[in-house]
Amino acid sequence: MKRVAIFLLPLLFLAIVYTIAKISAFAITATPISSLEASELRQKALDAGFRPIPTDPKKLLHLINTPNNPLNAAKVQLGKELYFDPTLSKDGTISCASCHNLDAGGDDGLPTAIGYKHHRNPHHLNSPTVLNAALQKFQFWDGRAKSVEEQAAGPIQAPFEMASTPDEVVRKVAASSHYTKLFKKAFGDNAITFDRITKAIGAYERTLLTPARFDKFLEGNLTALNEKERRGLELFINVGCKACHFGRSIGGLLIQKFPMNPYNFSIYPKFGIHGSKYYFKEIAIDPNVTANPYPFKDLGHYYGKNDAQRFKVPILRNITKTAPYFHNGSVKDLKEAIRIMAKYQRNIDLDKDQIEAIEAFLGSLEGEIVDFNLSEFS
Ligand code: HEC
Ligand code: HEC
Repeated sequence: MKRVAIFLLPLLFLAIVYTIAKISAFAITATPISSLEASELRQKALDAGFRPIPTDPKKLLHLINTPNNPLNAAKVQLGKELYFDPTLSKDGTISCASCHNLDAGGDDGLPTAIGYKHHRNPHHLNSPTVLNAALQKFQFWDGRAKSVEEQAAGPIQAPFEMASTPDEVVRKVAASSHYTKLFKKAFGDNAITFDRITKAIGAYERTLLTPARFDKFLEGNLTALNEKERRGLELFINVGCKACHFGRSIGGLLIQKFPMNPYNFSIYPKFGIHGSKYYFKEIAIDPNVTANPYPFKDLGHYYGKNDAQRFKVPILRNITKTAPYFHNGSVKDLKEAIRIMAKYQRNIDLDKDQIEAIEAFLGSLEGEIVDFNLSEFS
């Protein structure tokens, strides 16, 4: 027995050394200081699944065009006019641009959207940006639409957005000789249908891409990001934000659980005594109180896809312009949104410097809408 123990001792020692090495290796990857040359970091970003919005107009056009809705100059122009046209709404006051303001990051800057007759979104939902939305695989907070064309049919009819019906919209559009002419140019004949209206709006949305300094960096301009932004990018990759926010739209390609790590704890659920790790003081001693599932206020009681706290991963392009944050718009400060993400999606406590570096990197995703020459579509 003793001999076996002596024989096992060195093995035990090795196991301890191995474990310590593993833990410290993790600590290094979890809290890096910028260690890579800009060129290595660029490669690392490409390997992590980031892709640039290309500067080359031909590549750009190839990227946004789709056989389901081939783009042409007239269709994009028509879609643009429809996007800004409030007559599409029931009382002629609300257009897509009311909630998706292109000069303000593609959203409305409000915690919750306000539409027809000042109705608030019944789930207290925040308006996401339309900028770069065409690059997403999923649209809406629960990802229920697969394209911008499919999406556009929703807000026109939603009673708390534009409150119209397809027939009403078709009738109003067909009454305009200007629109009739554009329809003919865009689709080859005079037929005005609801499907074509959503296709034209979708075509315009496909052109709403915003290349940024980060794209220049990905395309090889290594000085496009400063030191702090590069450190932020490296952290964004190492901390694991890129597991969900990646691709050209830096989001929009997955539906994911939020929060990943349980946020509530139940002290004694049988008696309805719940609490949360964040608001320690809010321990409710009430059998009717259900615990708040989020690390922020549960406004609107919206739980995403299948009510399972699964959400479309949002686009992070122009995120510095689209406060407040999250599906219910309950967080105003981007730093706080970053802290929450690291803590509840990755189980990592970031320090102030790290949060600021990531915020600086996110600032490099601010871009201007591409100035397409419409003849490029013909
Ligand atoms: C009253 C404000 C309001 C109006 C008007 C409105 N939207 Fe929205 N939009 C929202 C809200 C809120 C959501 C999220 C709704 C959800 O997830 O159920 C949204 C979602 C979207 C999305 C999905 C983006 C994403 O990342 O998931 C797109 C694209 C979009 N709207 C385009 C449009 C277009 C095009 C129009 C006009 C036809 C329009 N919206 C009119 C508030 C509005
Ligand atoms: C497991 C997937 C996942 C990971 C990892 C992740 N996120 Fe998120 N992120 C989401 C989801 C899902 C949401 C939407 C949650 C909601 O609105 O309730 C979100 C929302 C956000 C928002 C708010 C976006 C908006 O438009 O309101 C920011 C900012 C953000 N994430 C940044 C980060 C950062 C920084 C990291 C790394 C520290 C990170 N995320 C890691 C899935 C993830």
